[in-house]
Amino acid sequence: MARVCVFLVALLLLCVYKILALKLGSSNQNPVVLEYHSVELSCIIEDGIMTANPRIEWKKIKSGGPSYVFFNNQVVGDLMNRADILNNPSLIIHNTSRTDTATYRCEVTDDIGKTPGEISIQLMVQVKPVTPRCNVPKAVPVGKTAVLHCRENEGQPNSVYRWYRNSEPLPDNSKSNPKFVNSSFTLDPKTGTLVFSAVTKSDTGLYYCIATNPAGSAKCGEQQLEVYDLNIAGIVCGALVVLLVLVLITLAICCAYRKGYFSKGKPNGKSYKTSAKPEGVNYLRTDDEGDFRHKSSFVI
Ligand SMILES: *[C@@H]1O[C@H](CO)[C@@H](O)[C@H](O)[C@H]1NC(C)=O
Ligand SMILES: *[C@@H]1O[C@H](CO)[C@@H](O)[C@H](O)[C@H]1NC(C)=O
Repeated sequence: MARVCVFLVALLLLCVYKILALKLGSSNQNPVVLEYHSVELSCIIEDGIMTANPRIEWKKIKSGGPSYVFFNNQVVGDLMNRADILNNPSLIIHNTSRTDTATYRCEVTDDIGKTPGEISIQLMVQVKPVTPRCNVPKAVPVGKTAVLHCRENEGQPNSVYRWYRNSEPLPDNSKSNPKFVNSSFTLDPKTGTLVFSAVTKSDTGLYYCIATNPAGSAKCGEQQLEVYDLNIAGIVCGALVVLLVLVLITLAICCAYRKGYFSKGKPNGKSYKTSAKPEGVNYLRTDDEGDFRHKSSFVI
């Protein structure tokens, strides 16, 4: 019997509480707005004993604790001069800023019950992306890795990124599309980083990136990526030829030395240089533009 009494009393208290507490509602508990546009934080008294002067308070819930937005019948804090109470007790923010993204709590107390009704509104202020900073290596040898970066930090919510080659969008993974069978790359759309594990000639092209979020998109300027042949065989051959030439020169010098070409004091004092001129060829200076012509007495 006592238990039933306790239960009934509890039920009665709950009913009284329910009647006295205001019940609040909202036409939109998750409003989304573009930065610099206006937004209504809708708060509607749905149920309760209406009084002539309900006390209205709005709070912004931050990590450091709630702060007042509307208190004592005026807008205070960050939103001062930017917000008004419209259609009691909804709040309208005229010129939203990115820092307004937060949870707001509407609290209404009627002067009979003194039991506040409350409702939370989650406001999201969206910010368009700005032009991303893009980084494309200018020239990469065939077979080497290449990393392309694209990033912007203004967009709210965070931007996602897409790379384009010669105006054609690249998939997140080259393996996912037969068109890119000759490439091997992966893109992380969240970071904007495009990684080629080994570039091929077909990766040469004009690259740009677009950052996108629900508020808009922004593109960086095109940049050229050049892929060049690093011809290993050619380099080895070239090195061998140089080595061969050096060996031959060394051998020639050795031979010449052995045969005494470098010894001083030839018997008839004639140097090889002067006698190297073939007999019968006379070097003549002709009148026209000081050219050297030679004519052989054997030819004429
Ligand atoms: C809105 O606020 C920004 C600064 O946050 C200011 O530059 C701009 O002039 C304001 N616009 C209006 C219409 O008040
Ligand atoms: C890939 O490379 C092969 C051989 O070089 C070529 O025949 C083919 O057309 C290329 N495919 C694409 C999609 O570029």
